[in-house]
Amino acid sequence: MARFLNASTPGAIDAAAQQLAAGQLVGMPTETVYGLAADAGNASAVRRIFEAKGRPSDHPLIVHIAPPASADAASWRAAVAPFARDLPDFASALMRAFWPGPLTLILPRRPEVAALAAGGQDTLALRCPSHPVAQSLLRAAQARGVAGVAAPSANRFGRVSPTTAAHVAEEFAALDDEVLLILDGGACPVGIESTLIDCSRGRPVLLRPGSITAAQIEAACGLAVRERDAAAPRASGTLASHYAPRATVRLMPALQLQAALDLLGADAKNMAVYARHAVRTARAVSQRRMPDDAQQAAQELFAVLRELDATGVRLIWVETPPDGLAWDGVRDRLQRAAA
Ligand code: TXA
Ligand code: MG
Repeated sequence: MARFLNASTPGAIDAAAQQLAAGQLVGMPTETVYGLAADAGNASAVRRIFEAKGRPSDHPLIVHIAPPASADAASWRAAVAPFARDLPDFASALMRAFWPGPLTLILPRRPEVAALAAGGQDTLALRCPSHPVAQSLLRAAQARGVAGVAAPSANRFGRVSPTTAAHVAEEFAALDDEVLLILDGGACPVGIESTLIDCSRGRPVLLRPGSITAAQIEAACGLAVRERDAAAPRASGTLASHYAPRATVRLMPALQLQAALDLLGADAKNMAVYARHAVRTARAVSQRRMPDDAQQAAQELFAVLRELDATGVRLIWVETPPDGLAWDGVRDRLQRAAA
């Protein structure tokens, strides 16, 4: 069993920083989802992440950095300089606009750093999180010589990302308590993973939508955002099937969902419905209402999928999210959960 520490307990942050410096793993709360964190500069620690997740070692990780003492352009530039070989102006503008926060930037990597965390890419994904516990941990780790913290979402490969400390414990029940320390910082406020922008190809390319929308990126840097294409490097969060619960997820517009439920009638069982509209179902069907607000829907999405899954249902029928940029992140996660 992993070890738990409430992040507000005196000494908890220090114990977690010590754990990272010792080459072990920490369940780290961030504003998006919990990460499975290790020292990005320690190859055996990074290997532990890939092993624990069952993730192929050529799928690159995000390196998290502590916020600089002041948030001006020069300080941000200095914060990424140990990792990035180059910082295009538009990437610098994005850092100033959205860091610390739920945005990951992919930059040309200094060849001598974080090779294993980068999964062999000549680029490196960097993020400065806004969550106060993550920031304290990153600062404490930095003071112990850990310059960057590699952290994928703290779930086993292909599974639903964790948004509470209990979710992390569920995923890694088999790990010893010396190997994994979970810092409990409460439920993650954003709920879906960071927006991922590739800044290594001259113009911003959106690899994964998140709570920061493509329109916000364009407004902040003055460049059009391109969608990813076949030339984009491998990103597990961009595989067609990902974020998958055990139950089969199906996405349908409200009317179609109602018609399908009516067809099943009283035979509907072992299934759950997650919809913004109220639908009529047989009594055996558990139903959860999806919030009308995209950010609220994102915040609870993974927890709801896990809860419904835990009831042992075989099917989860979900109402297709609305069109519109604000829903891009939620729509993307649900489409992959359903693939
Ligand atoms: O919100 C988040 O980003 C969370 C928290 C913990 O920070 N982390 C997260 O990490 O979602 P992960 O490993 O689950 O997803 C990172 C994504 C993957 O799809 C990975 O393939 C992609 O980023 N990625 C990382 N480095 C990359 C690179 N150099 N080039 C292209 N894609 C990269
Ligand atoms: Mg992930």
